[in-house]
Amino acid sequence: MKVLVTGGAGYIGSHTTLSLVEKGHEVVVLDNLSNSNPEALRRVQEISGKPVQFRRADLLDSDALDAVLAESTFDAVIHFAGLKAVGESVEKPLMYYQNNVAGTLNLLHSMGRAGVYTLVFSSSATVYGESEDVPLRETVPLNAGNPYGRTKEQIEDILSDVAAADPRWRFALLRYFNPAGAHESGLIGEDPQGTPNNLVPFVAQVAVGRREKVSVYGNDYPTPDGTGIRDYIHVMDLAEGHLAALEFLQEKAGVFRWNLGTGKGSSVLEVIRAFGEAAGFPIPHEFVSRRPGDAAVSYADPSAARADLGWSATRDLAKMCEDHWRWQRSNPQGYANAGSAAGQG
Ligand code: NAD
Ligand code: WQD
Repeated sequence: MKVLVTGGAGYIGSHTTLSLVEKGHEVVVLDNLSNSNPEALRRVQEISGKPVQFRRADLLDSDALDAVLAESTFDAVIHFAGLKAVGESVEKPLMYYQNNVAGTLNLLHSMGRAGVYTLVFSSSATVYGESEDVPLRETVPLNAGNPYGRTKEQIEDILSDVAAADPRWRFALLRYFNPAGAHESGLIGEDPQGTPNNLVPFVAQVAVGRREKVSVYGNDYPTPDGTGIRDYIHVMDLAEGHLAALEFLQEKAGVFRWNLGTGKGSSVLEVIRAFGEAAGFPIPHEFVSRRPGDAAVSYADPSAARADLGWSATRDLAKMCEDHWRWQRSNPQGYANAGSAAGQG
């Protein structure tokens, strides 16, 4: 298939691009590089030995989208491009609605003009908000608790309405739980700009000496060790989930929602311990107060994806930490010093 991957230079997009080209698909990545480095795509080509075309363009630029979609006949689009920092979305909601919602509207208009009707969308478990109805099934009422989450909820609604109005459209809405890990080459991985918002990249930066210690947000939750429980999923499992969704959409039109999670929860302390085991030394941490808006426990019921897509996660927390650590220790500054120690060891 010929696939346009928006946001393909980013964390999940680069790993999915790698899986796509390794399976023999042709990929064009469209990204404005607002939160990524083109070095990621150079390395995807290095690992796979396959070409990846790159177009630097913004979702908010309709003419640029039209131009890329007119270049060749695409079979499908995988749409990762978006802003994703919860805290920033509270401070700058208009920027989030503009980039994520308006950007997706532009993309849909351009796709319609180009006659491309198949889209796999990066939604998020964040659409479930603080629901305590775990394991979370796709049927739980959505209740995102912040502007970022509401952009995902609104895009899900838009895609549902569009599919209902026109039977040509095929949409897979993939609700990722907590992505972590890296490709096992250690050449590509997560490279957050500034202070990481998420647990695993923060732990990784402590391990590599960029930060002093991990702040554990609360140890008084109603969980076995008092810390929050999440469903961490290996980024390569996620990547493979996208390929499975693409294949499914070749057979069926309509709108489909799937959780991409492992179905297993891990506490903050379990993650810190597992990362320490991967690194070979304990990770310094301290308990601080809860982070507002955090649920105590969140993990997926992934049975719908297993039944419909024949997909399930195969990599566990130890493997996630091992791969994340290989990437981080070989690239202590991420892609910033591209070419220096990448992939060694
Ligand atoms: P990322 O920031 O690494 O990748 C997103 C990419 O989109 C970046 O390369 C960025 O430059 C690009 N982009 C952003 N706005 C753009 C625009 N207007 N035009 C063109 N390109 C643009 O993030 P990620 O972790 O790879 O996440 C990918 C998608 O998955 C996002 O939509 C995110 O909301 C969603 N998601 C992420 C997580 C997570 O924890 N990482 C969890 C659930 C859902
Ligand atoms: C995980 C656990 C924290 C950092 C977020 C977004 C969600 C999705 C995934 C995009 C929680 C604890 C964290 C730290 C800590 N992203 N923690 N110290 O909050 O489940 O989900 O990322 O869609 O939308 O909300 O992930 O990695 O931030 O936190 O103790 O420095 O780690 O309290 O229990 P979260 P996270």
